[in-house]
Amino acid sequence: MLVKPGAVARGLVGEVLARFERRGLKIKAMKYFQMSRELAEEHYGEHRQKDFFDGLVGSITSGPVAAFVLEGPDAISVVRRMMGVTDPLAADPGTIRGDYGLDIEANIVHGSDGPESAVREIALYFSEDEIV
Ligand code: RTP
Ligand code: MG
Repeated sequence: MLVKPGAVARGLVGEVLARFERRGLKIKAMKYFQMSRELAEEHYGEHRQKDFFDGLVGSITSGPVAAFVLEGPDAISVVRRMMGVTDPLAADPGTIRGDYGLDIEANIVHGSDGPESAVREIALYFSEDEIV
């Protein structure tokens, strides 16, 4: 899970993380860093052909992010459901995007969308000895 730059700038890292912690997910790794353009293009590689790709890369590199590896039963879908749907305007109240956002480009959080993307993304941001 990543807290995106806009949410970091708004001081929402703690609130977002607290929701996952309260739910019972365990923190396995955490990092605060400025994402490079290269890493952002790799991260969002599946969207390279989309017309919003440049905006997406610009947005995720616009300031520091907070990255977390979270663990728990069915963690990927639990996290995705707690995040809410991609567009905050459509996200249900009670979800993170539904409670904190209105802008699809600054939709607060990123969560891996499946086991393969989780493995791939964790390896982008963490070395094995950083996962506790
Ligand atoms: P994410 O990857 O960031 O967790 O979001 P997601 O799975 O819910 O959505 P995805 O389809 O993977 O899109 C990645 C990010 O691209 C931005 N987006 N903009 N302007 C647009 O139509 C549009 N569509 C998607 C969003 O910031 C989304 O989180
Ligand atoms: Mg996605």
